Amino acid sequence: MESQNNIPDYSLPEDRVPLFEAEHLGREEKAALKAEIAGLLKARGATLIAHYYVDGDVQDLAEETGGTVADSLEMARFGRDQGGDTLVVAGVRFMGETAKILSPEKRVVMPTLEAECSLDLGCPPDEFQAFCEANPDRTVVVYANTSARVKAMSDWVVTSSVALPIVESLDAKGEKILWAPDKHLGHYIQVQTGADMLLWSGACVVHEEFKSKALFDLKAVYPDAGVLVHPESPAAVIDIADAVGSTSQILKAAETLPHETFIVATDRGLFHKLRQRNPGKRFIEAPTAGDGAMCRSCAHCPWMAMNELTALADMLRSDALFAANEVLVDPQIGERAMIPLNRMLAFQA
Ligand code: 13P
Ligand code: SF4
Repeated sequence: MESQNNIPDYSLPEDRVPLFEAEHLGREEKAALKAEIAGLLKARGATLIAHYYVDGDVQDLAEETGGTVADSLEMARFGRDQGGDTLVVAGVRFMGETAKILSPEKRVVMPTLEAECSLDLGCPPDEFQAFCEANPDRTVVVYANTSARVKAMSDWVVTSSVALPIVESLDAKGEKILWAPDKHLGHYIQVQTGADMLLWSGACVVHEEFKSKALFDLKAVYPDAGVLVHPESPAAVIDIADAVGSTSQILKAAETLPHETFIVATDRGLFHKLRQRNPGKRFIEAPTAGDGAMCRSCAHCPWMAMNELTALADMLRSDALFAANEVLVDPQIGERAMIPLNRMLAFQA
C-alpha cells in the first residue's frame, strides 16, 4: 500500500490496532475481581497456570486457587500432570500450545490468543524447514518459544532451565546441533559447552534491550549488588552476571546468593516473586538504555502484559469468549511435537 507521496503506508487497519492499555484498578476493585475469577475458575472446573512475567495479581490468584506460577518448563509439566480437564494458561501463545500438545484431551484456554512472542514470530515454520533441510546432519534443538509446527520439526525442545545440560549431553555423544531461534541463548550455550552449534538469528525484544555499558555504570553505584541475568540477554550483559539462568533459576539465585541487593536483567514481571520471596532484599531493574538515550524500553513483555485480571475475568464470564479463546493445535502436528517435548520433560524428571 502506498500513500500520496509514494511513501509506503504502514498504518494498520483499525481492527488490527492493539487495544491494550494497562489497567489501573483500586485495591477493593481488584479484590472483588479476584474473588469473582476464583469463583468462575471453580465453576468451570479450570486450573490457572501462570508465568512469572504476568501481572502479580494473576500470579497470586493462580497459587491461591490451586494452580501454579512457574517458569516455562514447570508450566508445561504442571499442565501435563495435573488431573483436571480444563487449563487456563496465563502467558504467551507458545505456552498455551505446549500445554495443549502435552494434553490433547484437555481444553486449554488463554485470556487472549493474541499474546505472541518475538522469538516465535521470528522463526516462521517454512523458513525453518528450509534451514533444517540444508543441514540434515545436525540434531535439531529448538527453544520452547516456538510454534507447534517448528517444535514438530525438532529432535529436542528445551527451555532455558534445561538447555545447557541437554546440549552438554548431546555434545558428549558427538552430535552437531542446529539451534533455533534465540541467538543470545544459543551463543551462551555454545560458549559454556563448546558444542558445535549452528544458530538461527532470533532475539527476544525484551532481553535484547539490556545494555552492558549502562549496567556496568549501575554496578559502580551499587558495588555490593549481585547481578542476575536471563540468558536471552546479549553476551556483554551475561558477562557481567553473578548468576545466569531461567526465571526459576534467577529466583533461586536471589534466595541463595549472599548479596542484599540485586540488579536483575529480565522482564520486570519477575520482580513480584523476587520481592515476595525475599522481603529483606532490594531488587533493581537492569538498565535498558545508556547515557543520553531519549527512549527507554520498559523491560516488560508487551504480550505477557496482556494477561490482566480484566482479560481473564472477561474470558471466564462469557461462554462465547471462553470458546473463542480455546487453544487448538492440529492433532498431527501436536502428536509429532509431543515427542521432543516429552523427551525434555523426561530428561529433567
Ligand atoms: P523461562 O523459561 O525462564 O520461564 O523464560 C520464558 C521466557 O519467555 C523468557 O523470556
Ligand atoms: Fe518472548 Fe521475550 Fe516475551 Fe519471553 S519476554 S515471551 S522471550 S518476547
